[in-house]
Amino acid sequence: MTAATVEVHLAPGELHAALVEDARRGLLAPAGHKQLPPVWFYDDHGSALFDAITALPEYYPTRAERALLLAHAGDVAAQAKASTVVELGAGTCDKSRILLDALRGAGCAERFVPVDVSEATLRQAADDLCEAYPGLAVHAVVGDFHRHLDRLPSGDRTMVAFLGGTIGNLRPDERGRFLFDLACRLRAGDSLLLGTDLVKDPGRLVAAYDDAAGVTAEFNRNVLRVLNRELGARFDPEAFAHVARWDDERSWIEMRLRALGTQRCEVAALGAEVVFEDGEELLTEISAKFTRDQVERELWDAGFAVDAMWDQPGGDFLLTLASPSC
Ligand code: SAH
Ligand code: TRP
Repeated sequence: MTAATVEVHLAPGELHAALVEDARRGLLAPAGHKQLPPVWFYDDHGSALFDAITALPEYYPTRAERALLLAHAGDVAAQAKASTVVELGAGTCDKSRILLDALRGAGCAERFVPVDVSEATLRQAADDLCEAYPGLAVHAVVGDFHRHLDRLPSGDRTMVAFLGGTIGNLRPDERGRFLFDLACRLRAGDSLLLGTDLVKDPGRLVAAYDDAAGVTAEFNRNVLRVLNRELGARFDPEAFAHVARWDDERSWIEMRLRALGTQRCEVAALGAEVVFEDGEELLTEISAKFTRDQVERELWDAGFAVDAMWDQPGGDFLLTLASPSC
């Protein structure tokens, strides 16, 4: 078995500096404005919790996207004919296998490049893939898909997969910039396979982010454990309630942590005290939900032309294959 190669673009010191900066900006903000980017959820424990979320009865996106991939991976392979597959935010690479099966069946996919911030999860996934796909070159990249797009290898016919609805975790302006940067990097013959969650009944949406077993609540609170460990903070995760709310106007789910009583907490790495008033909320994540038209328009605005779209009857989730339009 050939071993996976692993390229690390996130040195521990750099990660720490980025967290300090995000915490300074996001936690020292006045009441009503506190927020953190979602990337900090995903330490080893957070990745394991996310994996547990994907199996929850309420969390439909993973099952819906997996079913779409199983039904249409052959079409994706036939159209993309990719020799290199880059997957952003690949996590455990579970879904990648469906794509790799189809592409390799069609004589394509010589190289797979999973990219993720969660190093241990990525290393494990890359090793498992090497074992499962003899002859496939697995080149894992530990990096941030916002900052390290320019460092990704490109080859003849690259397909970039961005699945799981993770694009919805970016703010609209961030999303536009990200897609534009991506389109600029791709060349004729390259493609983007994008998974987006679709707007649906708010009751189902909220349940998917506030499950009965409380796994998502634990996942949300995990960010406080990361702050405690990495920044020498002393937040009591149990003193914060998990909140999942549908914002109809902005068409996104918001995940928040709400202080139960006033919380005063010294954060060593900031050299400052962070104060949450009773009931004050920290915004930890948004998860935008789309319509087909909106996905097509946003891709077009960023420099992509849609080649194909697949969803299922009932339309829970959408897979889009697109190529750079210039
Ligand atoms: N693609 C998988 C996992 C989705 S969860 C699926 O569809 O099930 C989101 C993944 O993106 C996590 O593995 C997380 O570690 C990774 N991630 C989040 N922010 C990231 C960033 N800025 N750069 C790289 N990876 C990121
Ligand atoms: N990309 C996933 C989504 O938006 C991430 C996710 C699922 C998530 N459940 C979560 C993030 C709970 C934070 C909390 O669906």
